Amino acid sequence: MMSIDRYAVFGHPINHSQSPFIHRCFAKQTGQTLTYEAIDVPPENFDRALADFLAHKGRGLNCTVPLKELAFQKMDQLTERARFSKAVNTIIVQLDGTLLGDNTDGVGLVTDLVNNHQVTLHNARILILGAGGAARGIIGPIMAQLPASLYIANRTVSKAEKLALEFAQTGSIIGCGFDDLAGFSFDIILNATSASLSNQLPPLPDDLVHSASCCYDLAYANTATAFVKWAKAQGAAQCLDGLGMLVEQAAEAFYQWRQIRPDTQKVIAQLEAKRKIG
Ligand code: ATR
Repeated sequence: MMSIDRYAVFGHPINHSQSPFIHRCFAKQTGQTLTYEAIDVPPENFDRALADFLAHKGRGLNCTVPLKELAFQKMDQLTERARFSKAVNTIIVQLDGTLLGDNTDGVGLVTDLVNNHQVTLHNARILILGAGGAARGIIGPIMAQLPASLYIANRTVSKAEKLALEFAQTGSIIGCGFDDLAGFSFDIILNATSASLSNQLPPLPDDLVHSASCCYDLAYANTATAFVKWAKAQGAAQCLDGLGMLVEQAAEAFYQWRQIRPDTQKVIAQLEAKRKIG
């Protein structure tokens, strides 16, 4: 009997995940026969859930909050971008059954900015807000675009300084606190704090944004996040949230699993239409 390749996303909570919708759209569009489901996995069940998934025709997994750092520790091999991120959002089950851990978040963000929103990162002055896992995951792919400079500002200043130092070999990176940003403006401001999730905003000085700035919240919601509202009030040229990044990181994962690139534009449009309805 021919078996169907099985894929899934593990997370906790997972009921609002758009990943099954996105990957099923990709599979349909590219004529790939596979299944993709969302599985609620609390961290303490991760090992058991992974073993069970692999024993039942599991070919690949996505991991989301709060499992990315845990998944990182469980891989047999890691891609370079996963090693830098210290987090895994995509697991590829290789032909010999070993697990390759990848991280497609950073490339997903850069693809959304560059391809979907025509934002130039090369030579740009870029600011990342936050110095946690989300920030770590995007620094490598951003630095690969050769920006003029990258600032990382965080509530806990020492974490921003440490992260800047860790990536110092990739170019000019400055770690600082929010107060230190007074008097500076940036071409691109990326919100990688988890403040949006509780509808909060980091304490930001007023003059960060100029009339051509692009502001991007890595989080997304059905209505404008606190950061997107702030960006609009500051007069930023582009005020974006992470819906496109979500689809692009999924497309990169799909490519790693199936060696075929889906058309992301159609899926982004479908998700935009879905959230307008609420
Ligand atoms: P994630 O994996 O989503 O990045 P994380 O590693 O817990 O989650 O990091 C959360 C980030 O959001 C941190 O940079 C945190 O700042 P601290 O390092 O000072 O804790 C930041 N953050 C969360 N809530 C915030 C808030 N209300 N204002 C400013 N920064 C906030």
